[in-house]
Amino acid sequence: VTVSPVDVRVELGERSYAIRIGSGLLDDRALFGQLGAGTACAIVTNETVAPLYAERLAASLRSQFGHIEIVVLPDGEVHKDWPALQRVFSALLESKCDRSVIVFALGGGVIGDLAGFAAACYMRGVRYVQVPTTLLAQVDSAVGGKTAINHALGKNMIGAFHQPMLVVADIDTLQTLPKRELVAGLAEVIKYGAIADDGFLDWIDSHMGELLSFDPLALAHAVRRSCEIKAAIVAADERESGVRATLNFGHTFGHAIETGLGHGAWLHGEAVGCGMVMAADLSVRLDLLPRAHADRITKIVARAGLPVKAPALGAERYLELMRVDKKADGGQLRFVVLDGPGQALLRVVEPGRVVETLEATSELA
Ligand SMILES: NC(=O)c1ccc[n+]([C@@H]2O[C@H](COP(=O)([O-])OP(=O)(O)OC[C@H]3O[C@@H](n4cnc5c(N)ncnc54)[C@H](O)[C@@H]3O)[C@@H](O)[C@H]2O)c1
Ligand SMILES: [Zn+2]
Repeated sequence: VTVSPVDVRVELGERSYAIRIGSGLLDDRALFGQLGAGTACAIVTNETVAPLYAERLAASLRSQFGHIEIVVLPDGEVHKDWPALQRVFSALLESKCDRSVIVFALGGGVIGDLAGFAAACYMRGVRYVQVPTTLLAQVDSAVGGKTAINHALGKNMIGAFHQPMLVVADIDTLQTLPKRELVAGLAEVIKYGAIADDGFLDWIDSHMGELLSFDPLALAHAVRRSCEIKAAIVAADERESGVRATLNFGHTFGHAIETGLGHGAWLHGEAVGCGMVMAADLSVRLDLLPRAHADRITKIVARAGLPVKAPALGAERYLELMRVDKKADGGQLRFVVLDGPGQALLRVVEPGRVVETLEATSELA
């Protein structure tokens, strides 16, 4: 099955760009040809993705660029760090890339965030193209211009807003993804339905079988609708001073799970899946959402194969992990909650209500 390409636009004035979604895009020389010719480009990727896709991308770029520098980093979130970033800068400098270089981020969200940040910094900012190869990266991290590396004291703490010039989501690349990674990406897809489009949530529910069996048409639709929703939110609020925060639905609980269990125990998407179940329950307790709708979200998250019961970290530990700032008063608890199907808003919530949700949704110790 080949999926004909579609473009989703991210409208940001002079920083606008297209997200091209379809099959066979890695080999689409005409698509990359639109970027224009140049003296050099760099492909930043990792040890896992390079043997699968780097040569194909390079072949599509070869007639256009005098030099193609391929930077292969070690795989893993732990390598979204300063030493890996330094390796990118060294490779660019050693191959004498100037400000006209175009950086291609070929991989999942880790590579996208790091290569994007490298592009934001190198010679005070150069152009880059996102070529996301995980479902999470295609529906989320490659779109919107947030780039970062991690610091020992916090995830994504060192970064910049830097929009790509193009996003190329070749859905064929998802075929080699481990199932667990595909499922983790589905959590973010479900998120878009929950916060912005109840009809899409229905579609996800009725196409879960196809999605879980890597059906290209179903995946292409999921990527497209997710990108449309994210693009509209980013266009309305590029720097997250308002509505963009609703993209964090499920993430306050999710981050607490990730940190509480130690990073890497659950994948980010798994924690977000469970976090959405918790945030939906909280929305019911705040009288914003009918119980039936929260139950529907729980059912969809469970059908995706994502966890719906939170680990028993203890209510106090959860609260401590979720407080916004660590001031003397303990800091506020702020959540994205649902105030109807396909509608989300940010709320400060009393600890008592949060504890009720924790008691109702965690595994009993
Ligand atoms: N910038 C943003 O707005 C934003 C949003 C969400 C997440 N993120 C970031 O994204 C990162 C997570 O991204 P991720 O879930 O893609 O993880 P990842 O980049 O670690 O990729 C997951 C795994 O899949 C492998 N892989 C990638 N493509 C593959 C393919 N086609 N076939 C087989 N294996 C493949 C990777 O090498 C890795 O082992 C986190 O660092 C997170 O902070 C950023
Ligand atoms: Zn997320």
